[in-house]
Amino acid sequence: MHKITITRPDDWHLHLRDGEALKAVLPDTAHRFARAIVMPNLRPPVTTIALAAEYRQRILDALPTATVRTEPVEGDDLSTLRQAQCERSGELNFEPLMTLYLTDNTSIKDVEEAKASGFVKAFKLYPAGATTNSDSGVTSLDKCAAALSAMEKLGMPLLVHAEVTDADVDVFDREKVFIDRHMKPLLVKYPALKVVFEHITTKDAAEFVASAPANVAATITPHHLLMNRNAMFTGGIRPHHYCLPILKREEHRVALVKVATSGSPKFFLGTDSAPHAKSAKESACGCAGMYSAHAGIELYAEVFETANALHKLEGFASFYGADFYGLPRNTDQITLVKEVWSVPAEIAFADEVLVPLRAGQTVAWKIV
Ligand code: DOR
Ligand code: ZN
Repeated sequence: MHKITITRPDDWHLHLRDGEALKAVLPDTAHRFARAIVMPNLRPPVTTIALAAEYRQRILDALPTATVRTEPVEGDDLSTLRQAQCERSGELNFEPLMTLYLTDNTSIKDVEEAKASGFVKAFKLYPAGATTNSDSGVTSLDKCAAALSAMEKLGMPLLVHAEVTDADVDVFDREKVFIDRHMKPLLVKYPALKVVFEHITTKDAAEFVASAPANVAATITPHHLLMNRNAMFTGGIRPHHYCLPILKREEHRVALVKVATSGSPKFFLGTDSAPHAKSAKESACGCAGMYSAHAGIELYAEVFETANALHKLEGFASFYGADFYGLPRNTDQITLVKEVWSVPAEIAFADEVLVPLRAGQTVAWKIV
């Protein structure tokens, strides 16, 4: 197959940052995806409805309009102009779905207000210290009991960065250990809580989610489907392949591809595209995160094609996430063609640059 048309996808896990950085990365997502679940790990974190409303507005204000024509130029007929206007409204129609950052102090009222807002779709649980800007995260799930009960009652999803933070647990085992220590007890205590096990990276997580009830689902990133941990050390240390949860062994990558391409509605697309300036990655203490929004659907097409499962891409990318969140499926479409293109070595990022996934290399599928 050299061409595939699917319902426009959504990205159920995305870091957009803020300010000039937001303006730099947002077009890559808005050109591909209709909606995205926007992570709240800004500095300071997005902990209240008021902060989420302001952030949402900054995202809407940053949506691309500059390249859009609204006036006819010589040679345009009416249908060309309409087409330009449609493209414009298509871009402006990108909908940021906001999340609130769960803390030890999140109250029942916070959850009720979030539900009533309509634009906050979930709470994000970062164990304190687990990753970028997680120092205000949760120190103990017991402290969140009231908020978690309210979320369970109101059907408000909890998105979990499922890694323990204990320094004595090996970094490659932190997800697996989280399942037994925290995920299982959480679901025993709140059996009806809607939980998204974010960016799963292990066979253990894949099996756990597959056998959990329907209120438990998972997102999977393109990088965890495409690479194993060797990619961090090919010929030397590769800081641009460092993310959290960290890349795992090949057997885990294979297990992720299996569930992603299985047609199970419990697994859906979440790029976890996480831009950092090149200088912050190429450093003595480099930041975690890979930028993949520039090829956010194309990279998944590679994975699904290699697994002979292109026909399963649409469910994973465009249906199951919306269904889980109780949102309508998108109605417009995108087309991907099998055409090799080169990823630039660097992309402008505020007053710096970032190094995208596959920098200086190629991607096999292209969005038309
Ligand atoms: O690699 C990561 N980067 N993992 C996360 O959980 C956070 C993200 C970021 O915000 O940079
Ligand atoms: Zn993330």
